[in-house]
Amino acid sequence: MGKVLAIANQKGGVGKTTTCVNLAASLAATKRRVLLIDLDPQGNATMGSGIDKNDLELSIYDVLAEGTPVDQVLRLSQEGKYAVLPANGDLTAAEVELLSLSEKEKRLDKALLQAREDFDYVLIDCPPSLNMLTVNALACCDGVLIPMQCEYYALEGLSALINTIQSIQRVLNPKLKIEGLLRTMYDPRNSLTNDVSAQLKEHFGDAVYRTCIPRNVRLAEAPSYGMPVIAYDKQSKGALAYLALAGEINRRQDTPVGETAFAAG
Ligand SMILES: Nc1ncnc2c1ncn2[C@@H]1O[C@H](COP(=O)(O)OP(=O)(O)OP(=O)(O)O)[C@@H](O)[C@H]1O
Ligand SMILES: [Mg+2]
Repeated sequence: MGKVLAIANQKGGVGKTTTCVNLAASLAATKRRVLLIDLDPQGNATMGSGIDKNDLELSIYDVLAEGTPVDQVLRLSQEGKYAVLPANGDLTAAEVELLSLSEKEKRLDKALLQAREDFDYVLIDCPPSLNMLTVNALACCDGVLIPMQCEYYALEGLSALINTIQSIQRVLNPKLKIEGLLRTMYDPRNSLTNDVSAQLKEHFGDAVYRTCIPRNVRLAEAPSYGMPVIAYDKQSKGALAYLALAGEINRRQDTPVGETAFAAG
């Protein structure tokens, strides 16, 4: 049974898409079967996976609004070696159309029934808002991976996201939890970064990934070539950081924190 992770933060530009694409490729490099779902009408994860969003016959829109089976829509990221459910601007319409459909929050959950069996990881790139698309991601996932920049306002935004996660857990998805907080565009020379980072660890403890993603120009360049960074420059600091994150996530998956404590006690 695969693990479904939503990569979410309603704040824009914090590194959601960069994390989704590069984590997908890094997990695939560790021989895991990975599906990336682009749930953002901007289609950035689609383009960053080397798939032209302007040239899609079918997209995640068809899955959500028309009930088209996932396997008819799947594409392959050649460079990243993972499967993709691509998106483009059509998805903006789904956001509205979903509102009039039955079980509107559970459309993605229903569609992924088979994919959970076929993949080890399903990563969902959420749009920068807490709309019905994000609700669909949170209603079907096992955990939320929250990328964040260590800035002052980052913590303010986090409480709105956590409230949303808690209410979805109550009403729609009892198994939902915060999988981890990922520090992105990390600059340890900045004292504010260190302060915010310390506060995060104080509040969230082990939920904060040990791996930090540094600011690295290769990560910003790779998408314009439709490549994850491990294909574009595998020696770069960005590539090494996302490989380390994949290792950390695999280890957590193999030995969930609670079980280790139980075995030791
Ligand atoms: N670690 C990094 N180092 C350098 N540039 C980065 C890094 N992470 C992301 N970027 C760049 O920052 C910008 C925003 O990143 P990204 O698109 O991943 O954020 P996002 O949260 O998905 O944005 P949106 O909310 O619009 O979907 C992009 O131009 C990306 O290339
Ligand atoms: Mg994005």
